[in-house]
Amino acid sequence: MKQLKIAVIAGDGIGPEVINEGIKVLNKVAELDSSFQFIFTHFPWGCEFYSRNGVMMDDDGIEQLKKFDAIYLGAVGFPGVPDHISLWDLLLKIRKSFDQYVNIRPVKLLKGAHLPLVNVKREDIDMLFIRENSEGEYSGAGEWLFKGQEHEVVLQNGVFSRKGTERIIRYAFEIAKKECRSLTSISKANALNYSMVFWDQIFDEVSAEYPEVETASYLVDAAAMLMIKDPKRFEVVVTSNLFGDILTDLGAAIAGGIGLAAGANINPERNFPSMFEPIHGSAPDIAGKGIANPLASIWSASQMLDFFGYEAYGQVVLDAIEQLLLEGEVLTPDMKGTASTSEVGNRVTDIIESIISSNKV
Ligand code: NAD
Ligand code: IPM
Ligand code: MN
Repeated sequence: MKQLKIAVIAGDGIGPEVINEGIKVLNKVAELDSSFQFIFTHFPWGCEFYSRNGVMMDDDGIEQLKKFDAIYLGAVGFPGVPDHISLWDLLLKIRKSFDQYVNIRPVKLLKGAHLPLVNVKREDIDMLFIRENSEGEYSGAGEWLFKGQEHEVVLQNGVFSRKGTERIIRYAFEIAKKECRSLTSISKANALNYSMVFWDQIFDEVSAEYPEVETASYLVDAAAMLMIKDPKRFEVVVTSNLFGDILTDLGAAIAGGIGLAAGANINPERNFPSMFEPIHGSAPDIAGKGIANPLASIWSASQMLDFFGYEAYGQVVLDAIEQLLLEGEVLTPDMKGTASTSEVGNRVTDIIESIISSNKV
């Protein structure tokens, strides 16, 4: 039997609560198939680990993770540990060390999910964000000079390499070509007169190699407005690290809420493990109450199944989420329901079982 080795970093706050439900789902799919199984190894890294050990992960943590087929992550960050330390020493460290330069974030309004926009049809909200995930505004390059003194100066540099910019744009073109969808680039060359002028130039260069892909290009401020006013313009979207971060939270808000938004951090060359996670954070305000929505985490498990080549099962998981939303009975409070995190996970698992055993796969 094929064994898929998954490193689980449940992390902080609601991370462990939602990740448990994703594990339930993955185990159920594997159990029903029986040609493969998941072997989960749990790592206790995160802010509690930091408070005991003074570090967010083991010193050789990256080395330990290398041997896994994928990483399944809950959330990182909790009051008491400065966010820039907790995130840079764990989540961002993994994304960067494993060159997970593609962040795939679907912004798709499933049937049954709440549609908050007026004059917009459900099917108009169906975007696939391809966010640059290794450099740009998140390069980490900078300086804090004369700290604490009257004349202190802070520099935070954006770094856009030709290699980094080209590869993400090319990746997005390949997806758009394969899916026969348009590709929209989002940048900001009117104000960012080096980095985004360069981004636009590379987009034009790579575009010339894909004459069959229809393209559009927007400034990020206008794009934020258009995502609300006219979301159907956006199909496949490619953008920089920070713009992608912000716009995908906006995307979550128009596509069912933050509790439903998933993301995959991919190293396309498969030299290193890729990482799957909900895009939300540790939600300290609701942590420990058992009411966090696990659907984002479960959707990211569906992305993991796709990544392993089990696209039919990835689709089953997504269909199960959709069916749960349509039933509207077992939902967490953020979706106006009264169910607990594990009740939602259990219901999704039951639906998966009924879809698979009725031989639809
Ligand atoms: P957040 O996503 O944790 O929470 C924002 C709001 O959304 C909160 O009201 C929260 O209760 C709600 N929410 C989030 N996920 C939910 C879910 N699954 N079900 C129901 N409600 C949900 O963002 P924040 O408050 O800005 O950040 C909290 C911490 O998480 C910070 O330390 C931040 O740095 C970190 N963070 C981590 C990640 C990650 O690990 N990938 C992502 C974003 C933020
Ligand atoms: C996300 C998060 C991270 C990011 C933070 C926690 C560093 O907001 O995955 O969207 O900005 O990439
Ligand atoms: Mn974010």
